[in-house]
Amino acid sequence: MHRLRPVTRRLLGAASLAGLSSVATAASAWAAPWPLDPSSPTSRAISELFWLTLIIAAIVFLLVEGLLIFSSLRFRRRSPHPTQEPPQIHGNTRLEVMWAIVPALILIGLYGMSVRTLGVLNDTPSSGVHVQVTAQQFQWNFSYTDSGVQTVNDLHIPAGVPIIFDVTSKDVIHSFWVPELHGKIDANPGRVNHIWFQADKLGEYRGACAELCGPGHAGMLFTVTAVSQSDFDQWLQSQKSGGATAASGQVAGGAAAADAGKQLIAQKGCGSCHMIPGVSGAVGTVGPNLGGVAGRTKIAGGAVSNAGPDDLKKWIVDPPSLKPGTAMPKLGLTDDEATKIVAYLETLK
Ligand code: CUA
Repeated sequence: MHRLRPVTRRLLGAASLAGLSSVATAASAWAAPWPLDPSSPTSRAISELFWLTLIIAAIVFLLVEGLLIFSSLRFRRRSPHPTQEPPQIHGNTRLEVMWAIVPALILIGLYGMSVRTLGVLNDTPSSGVHVQVTAQQFQWNFSYTDSGVQTVNDLHIPAGVPIIFDVTSKDVIHSFWVPELHGKIDANPGRVNHIWFQADKLGEYRGACAELCGPGHAGMLFTVTAVSQSDFDQWLQSQKSGGATAASGQVAGGAAAADAGKQLIAQKGCGSCHMIPGVSGAVGTVGPNLGGVAGRTKIAGGAVSNAGPDDLKKWIVDPPSLKPGTAMPKLGLTDDEATKIVAYLETLK
């Protein structure tokens, strides 16, 4: 083989460096969630096991490949005896025993570490916030067992407190996954799976369905908002009373528009799918509870940002255009009707 000229080698080196750095840039630009940035004792245990396995695998890989390359170069055929066979070796008991025992010990060690990690994951704390998770095509229903509060695609939790989940499904198999807080857990119809996690820090975590479950799978997203215990209690209260701290006067269009919106909401039948504070008979649980909807920074399970009334209006006028596959229908609202409905929804802070 011809030796590579130094300039060629330098070019190759530069190209591989450039390749590496572009991979690194892409990785850092790839937004959260990232399972290797754990924010819960459970996801940390999983991540530690991953790194341990990766490091051991890397050492074995380098050792084996290194010996292979070394042997190929060191013992290759070369002049002045191009046709002479090197000494042939058959069997080496000591080596063979060694390369059977060492991998066996490594596997036994990894097995032990896996069992230890499973122990951490299964060691559900005796107290915490209990949440029932029911998946369905294509949304996540959360029910807070202790308070009876129900939400859709919107999970509020107190940080630093264990959250204990019963996960099931109404229809097909889904998979409940918040990468930074826990591994995936299947949501199976007719079966309840249990997991727990605990958010280390305040903030928003993204969750997703991790099992192909139909045409709306990609949109089956949810947000986990970790807040302080007092904010959580307040949030629960606002969900129960419906966030009915109405502030109609401060809303665009004023109290009259909000009142008209409330009538429209009742007429259009929004309450058959949504729990809507202040609207009698609006106790649906198909869609999200709208208590506090105006205060949410994201709606439609995180698919649509909600910076103000205009976003909410765009959403209710034509939901499928903003989130294809959504269960929220296009109701054919006129601009005026949409404005009034939003005026009421804006009172639900
Ligand atoms: Cu539910 Cu994918």
